[in-house]
Order: sequence, then structure tokens, then C-alpha cells
Amino acid sequence: MNKTIIVSNRLPVDLKFDDEKLVVKSSTGGLATGMKSVHSEGNGIWIGWSGLAQEEVSEELQVEVDEALAKEKCIQVPLTNADIDNYYHGFSNSALWPLFHYFQAYTEFEWNHWKSYVEVNEKFAKVILEHVNDGDTVWVHDYQLLLVPELLRKSNPNITIGFFLHIPYPSYELFITCPWRNELLQGMLGADLIGFHTYDYVRHFLSSVSRIKDVEISFNEISYGNRIIKVDSFPMGIDYNRYHDAALEHDKYLEDSKSDFMKSLDFHNKSNEESKLILSIDRMDYTKGIPNRIKSFEYFLNKYPEYKEKVRLVMLAVPSRENVPQYQKLKRETDELVGRINGQLSTISWTPVWYFYRSLPFHDLIDLYVSSDVAMVTPVRDGMNLVAKEYIATRTKENGVLILSEMAGAAKEMHEALIVNPNNFEQTADAIKTALEMPQEEQKERLAALQKRISRYDVERWAGEFLKALEVAKNTEPIQVAK
Ligand code: ADP
Ligand code: F6P
Repeated sequence: MNKTIIVSNRLPVDLKFDDEKLVVKSSTGGLATGMKSVHSEGNGIWIGWSGLAQEEVSEELQVEVDEALAKEKCIQVPLTNADIDNYYHGFSNSALWPLFHYFQAYTEFEWNHWKSYVEVNEKFAKVILEHVNDGDTVWVHDYQLLLVPELLRKSNPNITIGFFLHIPYPSYELFITCPWRNELLQGMLGADLIGFHTYDYVRHFLSSVSRIKDVEISFNEISYGNRIIKVDSFPMGIDYNRYHDAALEHDKYLEDSKSDFMKSLDFHNKSNEESKLILSIDRMDYTKGIPNRIKSFEYFLNKYPEYKEKVRLVMLAVPSRENVPQYQKLKRETDELVGRINGQLSTISWTPVWYFYRSLPFHDLIDLYVSSDVAMVTPVRDGMNLVAKEYIATRTKENGVLILSEMAGAAKEMHEALIVNPNNFEQTADAIKTALEMPQEEQKERLAALQKRISRYDVERWAGEFLKALEVAKNTEPIQVAK
């Protein structure tokens, strides 16, 4: 029986050694959380990096690592410390990530990083080829592995290869600044189907291909040599029922108790009954607009002082890519901003911003989603943003308002949210006020429309449609152009 192999830089589990004891944690990030349910229900394997450096894993520990990964139907591509520095922190996260998110000033093109990126993509291809059989499907994910489709095709043309990009695809003007633009496109064109979250990203990609490569493009099909490559948009969904059911469970549980996390926030105590909670959840990443969000909240409190002591921003940021200098700078900036606003505005009984720099277990995340009145998802650039969809899925009581940045891919499908430009503090501050004052009936109507769409186009359907389109793409014969 043919199988589907998922391939991504990060596996759904993240391994660490704590005093020689192996700790297995769920990975954060949209790719891992989204694909996890697709993987657990399928019969295939997932190939990727475990989060450990090869140097940390002795022969005895390797057995333990392999066992832990086998339980999750995962196979690792071992990476050395040098690979992690140059391929992961280097080319992937100091060149491609900022470039594709329009942070050109942060983009560093270094030959050593590129060399390592090529080598690690080859390492991935080698492990995949050891596990793939003719007729199998390989689904490669994201910007860390742009060269893998072509490497696989060269070695085994009898497999079906899909590629999906989880981040934005930038405009041609930006993409051409990359010294290895040709190689990157060549790598992606090894796939039979290339998917993006939105139609805009498809457009930008086709524009780059048509200007850089000598190919024929008709609508969303690229004629390349003797092959047809299809390109399309597939807006990624979430495991809607998982979030919705967890919220329903949480409601039952809260009848007689409250979770430790909310207790620690001490939010439900008498003096705070009138108080409203605004939630913000992301990886600590400069694309997520965290400083702008804090500044908009500060602007809101200064413009509408009647809300002082009546509303709190609970900001959860999970540590991410801490070895990259721009992420360290963002962390410092966030700490300072939170310190400044709390220092200036706090009273004895009220702290405006509650800031947590850590990852939370699933039930605490649900607790926060359920307990908040408003969610602010205001990235300055984001491929999709699944937090916006998770928040909507957890609203079980017909209330809750989402403030969503127009720069997130999710805004293309979530029109009933309050859509803002995250660089416009005044507009965002006004949206906070609108959200807090929105009549219950309007909240209910907006939520109903959002929930209907998000529950229908969930992650299972997203993966199903991608894989169906991939099969069609593989079987498409090239059109013979009449001479
Ligand atoms: P990205 O892929 O850029 O990280 P997404 O919003 O698409 O952004 O996905 C983020 C995922 O990580 C979501 O599933 C969210 O629930 C999860 N997540 C974000 N912050 C935390 C946190 N502090 N603790 C646990 N999970 C988190
Ligand atoms: O969704 C975008 C993405 O970059 C994924 O590729 C990645 O797994 C996730 O965000 C988290 O980033 P990282 O794997 O670098 O921690």
C-alpha cells in the first residue's frame, strides 16, 4: 500500500535532555500544531529534526530518542550544532524568514549559511529516499526545505511530490534580492503541486517564476520541461473539534472550580468582576507585531481613560529562535515596553499588562482562550495565523470578539473580525473600544459566521484537498503546443 510521508524541519514533538533525562514536549508553531492531527490519523511517517543536536546524543541515548520518536511515527534527520547554527538560525531564520516577511533590513545573506542550507536539504532528501517507495507521496513543508522537492525528483521520479509554504511568499521585487533566487525556485519546481495560504502569495510566486525562469505559465499551471506543475492556494485550517470540544469540557469543569492558571491570574475575584480580559498569544517573533500591540493598548488606555482598571491585556509569548540577534532585541524591547506601561499606569489593584514569556500546556491555553473577552491577533506580517482560528473555535457561549490584522493571511477568510492595520495605533485603539462595547447580539452574529466557515474548512479538509489536488497534478499530461 502506498503511503504519504510528511516532511518538515520541525517534528510535532520537540526533544530535550534535562540532566540526561529525555523530555518530550509538543512543538509550537502553526505547522506542527496543524499537521499533528493529520499525521496522527494517517498511516504515514513524519520526517524532520528532533530539536536535539547530534553532539548531545550518545549511542545509548540514541536508542531512547529513536524509541520516543517511533511512538509518534516520526523519523529524525540528525543535525549537528553547526547545521543548527548555519542552516536553521542562519539561512532559514536570518535570510529567508525576514525576506519572505518583508523585513529586508533584517535579512542577512551569508555564503556559509547558504552552503549549510544546501547540505541540510541534501541530508533531508537522503533520509526521505531511504524510506520512500515508488508510488508513495511525499509532502514537503515550508521555507527551510525549498530545495528538497527537486532533490527528490532527481533521484526518484516515480514518487508524487507536494510542497506547501506556511509563510507569505514575497513580491518579485523583494525575492530577486536573494543571491540564490534561481536555485530556490529550481528547488520548489521539483514538486508536482505547490501550495500557498492565499491567492496573493500564488500571484507573487508565479510572477517570480515567470521573470526568473524560462517557462510557460497558463493560469495556475507551469509547463516546465516535460512536466506540468500546478500552483494553488489552500488556506490552512485548524482541528476545529479539538479546540471546540476542549472549550466545552472546560466550561463543565469551571462550574465548580477554576484552572490553576486563571487562579494564578486571580482574575475572577470579586473586585475584578467588571474587569475585561484581552488576550494575545504568539511565538515571540518580530513578525507578530508585539510592540505595536502593546503601544496600541497604551494608546487606547490614554485615549479612553475610563477603561483604566477595567481591562487587562494578557500577553503570552512563547520563546522562539533565541539565538538569532533580532529575536533577542525584540525580547528586550518587549520587556521594556511592558515595564514602561505597567510602571506608568498600574495602580495598587490593577496591572494593565500581564506578560508571560513561556509555552503553555494545551489545557491552560484553552483556559485563556475561553476566559478572554477579546483576542488581539495583530501581526505586521503573517502567512496565515492559526491563533485567530483557535480563538474562534473556543467561543462556546456566543460571545467574544476577534481583532485581526489585515496583514495576516487569515484576514482573507475572516471578514467578520474587526480588521485593523497594526501600524495604525489609533485605529487599533478604537477597535479595542468597539470590541469591548460590542452588543451581545452582534458578537453572536459575527461569531456564528466565523465558526461556520472555520469548522467547515478545518485542517483535515485542507489536507484532503491538497492531497487530492496533488494526485490530479501528478496525472496531468503536459499540453502539446502546436508549432
Ligand atoms: P506560527 O506558525 O508563526 O507560530 P500560528 O499562529 O499559525 O503562528 O501558530 C502558532 C501555534 O502555536 C498555535 O497553534 C498556538 O496555539 C501555539 N502557541 C502559540 N503560543 C503558545 C504558547 N505560549 N504556548 C503554547 N502554544 C502556543
Ligand atoms: O509556521 C511557520 C513556522 O516557521 C514553521 O515552519 C515552524 O515550525 C514554526 O513556525 C515555528 O518555528 P520554529 O520551528 O523555528 O520554532
